[in-house]
Amino acid sequence: LASASAVFYLFGATGDLARRKLFPALFSLYKEGKLAEDFAVVGLARRPRTDEQFRDDVYESIGEFSRYKSDDAELWNRFAEHFVYMSLDINNVEGFRELDRLSSQLDAKFNIPGNRLFYLALAPELFGPVSFNLRDGGLLESKGWHRVVIEKPFGYDLPSAQKLNDQINQVFREEEIYRIDHYLGKEMVQNIEVIRFANAFFEPLWNNKHIANVQITLSETVGVEERGGYYDKSGALRDMGQNHMLQMLTMIAMEPPSRLQGEDIRDEKVKVLRSLRQYATSEDVRTNVTRGQYAEGSWRGKALPGYRQEDSVNPESVTETYFAAKVFVDNFRWAGVPFYIRTGKRLPVKTTEVVIEFKNTGSVLFGQRHDLTPNLLVIRVNPMEGIYIKINAKEPGSDTGVQPVAMEFCQSCKIGLNTPEAYERLIYDAARGDSTYFTRWDEVSQAWAFVDRIASAWREESSDLQFYPAGSWGPEKADEMLAKDGYRWWPVN
Ligand code: BG6
Repeated sequence: LASASAVFYLFGATGDLARRKLFPALFSLYKEGKLAEDFAVVGLARRPRTDEQFRDDVYESIGEFSRYKSDDAELWNRFAEHFVYMSLDINNVEGFRELDRLSSQLDAKFNIPGNRLFYLALAPELFGPVSFNLRDGGLLESKGWHRVVIEKPFGYDLPSAQKLNDQINQVFREEEIYRIDHYLGKEMVQNIEVIRFANAFFEPLWNNKHIANVQITLSETVGVEERGGYYDKSGALRDMGQNHMLQMLTMIAMEPPSRLQGEDIRDEKVKVLRSLRQYATSEDVRTNVTRGQYAEGSWRGKALPGYRQEDSVNPESVTETYFAAKVFVDNFRWAGVPFYIRTGKRLPVKTTEVVIEFKNTGSVLFGQRHDLTPNLLVIRVNPMEGIYIKINAKEPGSDTGVQPVAMEFCQSCKIGLNTPEAYERLIYDAARGDSTYFTRWDEVSQAWAFVDRIASAWREESSDLQFYPAGSWGPEKADEMLAKDGYRWWPVN
């Protein structure tokens, strides 16, 4: 296993993402030998903190969120030695000069050849200023490579994303920029390629002759939690649709890449995004996209407040916490196949699932052809991981009775829920220079263009916003959308 020899700069080191995901990910990589001894982590945030206090934060975070425990004192002490903290005012280039001096010391101490990975877990408006100060503070002059990892949201719409990208591009080249979409780091999302391209069962059927529709569900039981301030300006379409959902759709729909390499895969993904049928009018958006907001409700017997009652949310907010859309990929393979995508907060289960519904055989041997349950291929991404197929089989003891049966591969049952976290994979990939599972600018911009069309129709007026009780499956209108096409959402489990 190649080790990732570099200094990691964590901007936003006192934030939630660092605590929940980034520290635990680094610890798992270390424990698994994917970070050898030649690395260092510099925590950066405004607040003053000593190295000791910072290490305590890291220790606590690992105790709470890591899939490995930190009870091996010897291991922990060796790991913690690599962590230092520096308080930094992002707008002051002097601090960056000091950071550069600190970096040289760390290079010498840990035998690092000047490789630098800047991880920006910050609000998007800070990406530009930080990039400029990294350059002006001399941090990009070391001998090794320089890469910048950027958290979502990458902008708010296409113009703001474009502006952000232009700023970052003044400092970093596209191949040095790693835009995170953590869904691409999930095991089962990466598995989509293998299932599709390594199985004689599926690839020949993977087109509009055999597939009736595709359903992608990302449901969450949580509400907006403490993120009302951010979320109320964002909403489900920007928070989940522009990135995670469209990225998953590209993995399902893309053509086989010429090689299994980053640029080739990303070339195919962007072609899918370019083929998305744009909604022509606002009316078109209203017919094909349902938006909802959770109202008061209950879940497992517990009463839940409505979205408008949440902290930092405008009491008259029309922000959507749910949306469902019917999307077409207008290319040769997918002509006429609807992709139904939906996501929401305060739904009854936490799950990410892709259902491929196949067309019926057209056989009248077993009653009317529509009596047969269609074959399904279900890819379960999270929290359960696995796949299953639903096929029709003879009902035991009957003459012509047919019943659907499931054949299942449950990955998480085999290895438990201890698969590598998305962030482990992504940090490791960035440190090795593999950008396959990061989003390229052309993908991001195409996705924004698609989403902006919907957002602009929604801005015109909000009477189509549907309220759904917290703890329910969202607005009925989303069910009607499928029913009109003769389909239904397959229940998730
Ligand atoms: C984030 C969104 O990108 O993804 C959150 O901002 C959402 O609103 C989260 O809760 C879901 O991620 P996961 O990995 O828990 O499914």
